[in-house]
Amino acid sequence: METFPGDDVREHLLVVDVDENACEPETKIRVRELSKVSEKGVPILGKINVDIPKGVIMGIIGPSGSGKSTMLRALNRLWEPPSATVFLDGVDICDLDVLALRRKVGMLFQLPVLFEGTVADNIQYGPQLRGKKLSETEVYKLLTLADLDSSFYNKTGGELSVGQAQRVALARTLANEPEVLLLDEPTSALDPISTQNIEDVMVKLKKNRGMTIVMVSHSIKQIQRIADVVCLLVDGEIVEVLKPDHLSQAKHPMAQRFLQLGS
Ligand SMILES: Nc1ncnc2c1ncn2[C@@H]1O[C@H](COP(=O)(O)OP(=O)(O)OP(=O)(O)O)[C@@H](O)[C@H]1O
Ligand SMILES: [Mg+2]
Repeated sequence: METFPGDDVREHLLVVDVDENACEPETKIRVRELSKVSEKGVPILGKINVDIPKGVIMGIIGPSGSGKSTMLRALNRLWEPPSATVFLDGVDICDLDVLALRRKVGMLFQLPVLFEGTVADNIQYGPQLRGKKLSETEVYKLLTLADLDSSFYNKTGGELSVGQAQRVALARTLANEPEVLLLDEPTSALDPISTQNIEDVMVKLKKNRGMTIVMVSHSIKQIQRIADVVCLLVDGEIVEVLKPDHLSQAKHPMAQRFLQLGS
């Protein structure tokens, strides 16, 4: 059997069966002993170990400052993790071309930032960098995938609500045909209907395309609505990995407090 650096810590991994009836799920992203210390020597992440199975939505929750964004940003090298700590399909991401990695592992942030030009320009941008011109039909398909109708094609960023702009940012990311989506509180600035639109799209992408989704959220209810598995991060460490409907079983005191206070 193929072995990976850090496999010796596997027995200490907090794992949960997403589907008890399935055979062992394929791991899409493997994180081993991922640490980060700030420039001033303050620990931010301490030896994170986690297997993110292919085709699931993994929620990441935890108190503010616990390292959720930092962990997420390591997965597509928005900060450069140490080598042999993050693997995509078994390959050290530090050995991949960084732009190719970011196409495969797309990211959405709390607030969307659109480029100048139309919605269509935004969506065509990524493929154009690779010398591929998306046809109008292809752009319409991406709009539909992100739950936007064809009237958005020629609109500019200034004409959009934040919720609509977030869906354009999603369509733009999907134009790169990613295999993994990293979402850092993608709905925290959105109203409940826009939030539901984005959640529905995530569930569809998982079901219809087998997309692997890692989503940081402050909303425990949101995680319970759409995640298959939840990581609880406290002080830069994963203290629990649970199914969303088992969150009340979290044993870590800080995790319990966070869950009791959370909404
Ligand atoms: N570049 C940096 N230099 C120094 N400290 C940093 C840096 N980036 C983040 N930190 C610190 O690392 C810790 C984790 O930050 P991070 O943004 O990952 O937390 P978070 O869990 O995403 O919080 P929030 O829920 O508020 O978004 C915080 O204490 C933060 O102050
Ligand atoms: Mg954050």
